[in-house]
Amino acid sequence: MSRSKISIIGGGFVGSTCAHWLLSRDLGDIVLLDIAEGPVQGRALDLLQSSALSRFNPDIKGTANYQDIQGSDIVIITAGRTRSPGMSRDELQNINTEIIRQVCEQVRERAPEAVVIIVTNPLDVMTYVAWKTLAFPSKRVIGMAGVLDSARFKAFVAMKLKVSIQDIQAFVLGGHGDTMVLLPRLCHVGGIPLTELLSKEDIEALVERTKKGGAEIVSLLKTGSAYYAPALSVVEMAEAVLKDKKRILPCAAFLKGEYDVKDLFMGVLCQLGAGGVEKVMEFSMTEAEKKAFQASVSAVRTQVQKLNI
Ligand code: NAI
Ligand code: 2OP
Repeated sequence: MSRSKISIIGGGFVGSTCAHWLLSRDLGDIVLLDIAEGPVQGRALDLLQSSALSRFNPDIKGTANYQDIQGSDIVIITAGRTRSPGMSRDELQNINTEIIRQVCEQVRERAPEAVVIIVTNPLDVMTYVAWKTLAFPSKRVIGMAGVLDSARFKAFVAMKLKVSIQDIQAFVLGGHGDTMVLLPRLCHVGGIPLTELLSKEDIEALVERTKKGGAEIVSLLKTGSAYYAPALSVVEMAEAVLKDKKRILPCAAFLKGEYDVKDLFMGVLCQLGAGGVEKVMEFSMTEAEKKAFQASVSAVRTQVQKLNI
């Protein structure tokens, strides 16, 4: 059986950590591409040498040449800037829009059959830019955020209850930002609803911490943003696609009327398999949840409307 080919565009913190997690799961051969030649080759070589100590025989190459991504099964896009102090969201959006467009023009040519996972922020808007540029069927363009935001909520619940994180089920919907939508009533701890285990005030505190989960890490790191959990979140999604697992994961998917939303990428529950987003899973929301989701949709739509593409 031939090995899968996974290309990662952007070999910075998230990109190279994705490569690390992908190698540790032996999910395929990897191309790590960055505009900045040198460091990306160094990281790839370091990772290749680490495989002497693992049970696998992966191939990993660092490059600045798009010819190397030819025929990829999956392309993960992490290229772009993180928000630095003093930079507005709109400035970041403008800079990263240009980068995503340049990258996706190359991906469209070289890897026309790939499933593409976008990581670059602002996530929901950049996934839209990628889809427009790639002109791929929307099910093959997926944004990563919900898996990460859900992992953060699970971690905070586990820390609060002092239970294993493995036994917590939860998911986060909506845009990747302040308007993300948490649904504590659907969070379960070993099958027990969270609402039976914690007070409303305690749950609200965990929800708020999750919404600011990215910023909390930024303020501790001083430079850059989170990468271990983001990268593993991407790898969970990539594995679901590569192994056709039909996993139900929260991802930014293109909506065509689901949840009464059209022509926008939003964080929703998706079935991920070989085809990418094989199904958007819908369920009944309470009035408050609907309202929060619609507010998140409006926030993302406002940003998308500012795009000049
Ligand atoms: P980083 O700065 O470590 O890496 C970004 C890399 O992109 C750099 O190596 C840079 O040289 C490269 N790059 C820039 N322009 C490029 C181009 N035109 N072609 C190829 N490569 C290019 O940043 P990090 O920490 O890896 O984050 C990457 C992006 O992912 C940021 O936008 C960040 O905000 C976002 N992010 C999103 C998350 C999510 O939940 N969706 C979670 C974590 C990060
Ligand atoms: C995060 O949530 C920066 O979006 C990134 O950590």
